[in-house]
Amino acid sequence: MIVHPIDPSQESEAMSSPSSTLSRPTLAFIGGGQMASAMIAGLLRAGQHGSSILVIEPTPDRRDHLEQTFAVRTAARADAQLAAAELVVWAVKPQVLRQALEEARMHLGTALHVSIAAGLPLKTLSQWLQSQRVVRAMPNTAALVGAGVTGMVAAEGVSEADRQLAAAVLAATGHCFWVESDERLDAVTAVSGSGPAYVFHFLEAFQAAAEAVGFDPATARELVLRTAAGAVEQAGLGEPFGDLRSRVTSRRGTTEAALAVLDARGTPRAIVDAVRAAYARGGELSRELSE
Ligand SMILES: NC(=O)c1ccc[n+]([C@@H]2O[C@H](COP(=O)([O-])OP(=O)(O)OC[C@H]3O[C@@H](n4cnc5c(N)ncnc54)[C@H](OP(=O)(O)O)[C@@H]3O)[C@@H](O)[C@H]2O)c1
Repeated sequence: MIVHPIDPSQESEAMSSPSSTLSRPTLAFIGGGQMASAMIAGLLRAGQHGSSILVIEPTPDRRDHLEQTFAVRTAARADAQLAAAELVVWAVKPQVLRQALEEARMHLGTALHVSIAAGLPLKTLSQWLQSQRVVRAMPNTAALVGAGVTGMVAAEGVSEADRQLAAAVLAATGHCFWVESDERLDAVTAVSGSGPAYVFHFLEAFQAAAEAVGFDPATARELVLRTAAGAVEQAGLGEPFGDLRSRVTSRRGTTEAALAVLDARGTPRAIVDAVRAAYARGGELSRELSE
C-alpha cells in the first residue's frame, strides 16, 4: 500500500506555529458533533482563533456548548457567513450529508471541501458538491484525545496549496497521511478507522481474563491498560512485532502456553479475516451511500 506521510517539518510547523497557515484561513464546519469538536480543539491548540471558525449545527445545546468552549461562531443553518469560508469541513453523518449539502448549497462559496463522512467516495462528493476541490478523509476516534490517525485522498482539482491546507487542518487531531485512491481510503477505514474498536475488543477480553484469574475489575483494568501502554511504547522503538514477541516467549514458559492457545484458536487468521470483512463492507457502504 502506498501512503504518503506528511513531511514532519510541515506537520510540526502546522501544529506549533501560531503564524502558520492555520491562523489565516476562515473555516466552517457543517455539523458540530464529536469529530468537529475534536478538530476544533486541536485547531485552537495550534493557534487558530475561534472567531475564524463557523459551525453550522442544528441542535441549540450543542451550539451553546461550542460557543462557550471554543468561542467559535455558530448558526442553526447555513447562511451568508458560510460563503467566506476558505475550507468547509463536512462533519455530519454520511446519511445526512446530502441533505445538509442541499441546505447549504446556495451559501457555498469557492471553498476547498473536506469530508470526514465515512464511506462517501470522492466521485459522489464531487458530484454532489459540484466541485473538484474535494478531499475525503478518514479520521479515527483517537482524534478525540489528539492521538488520531487520519488518511486522506484528494480529487483531481485539488492543488498542492489545497493539500497543505487540508493536511494542516486534519493534523490538528493527530497524525495524517495521503493515499492515492478511494479504494485505499476504504483500506485505511478497515485498519485505522475501525481499528480502535479492535483494540478495545482485545482490552475488554483481556480485562475479563484478568478477572478470571482473580483480580477485581479495577485492578484488572489497570493491569491491562498499563501492560498495553507499555507494550505499545516498546513496540514504537521500531523492532518488528514478531521479534519482540519471540524475545519474551521462553520455551515451555508461561507466555508460550498462552500464545499456543491463541494460535490454536486461530486468532491471527481471525484478525486478518476481520480486517478483510471491514474492507469489503466499506466498498458496499460506498455503493449504498452513493445511490
Ligand atoms: N466519531 C468517530 O470516531 C468518527 C471516525 C471517523 C469518521 N467519522 C465521521 O465523522 C462524521 C461525524 O461524526 P461524529 O461522531 O462527529 O457525529 P455526531 O457527533 O453525531 O455529529 C454530527 C452533528 O451533525 C449535526 N447535524 C445533523 N444534521 C445536520 C445538518 N443538516 N446540518 C448541519 N449539522 C447537522 C448533528 O446534529 P443532531 O445530533 O441534532 O442530528 C450532530 O451534532 C460522520 O460522518 C462519521 O462517519 C467519525
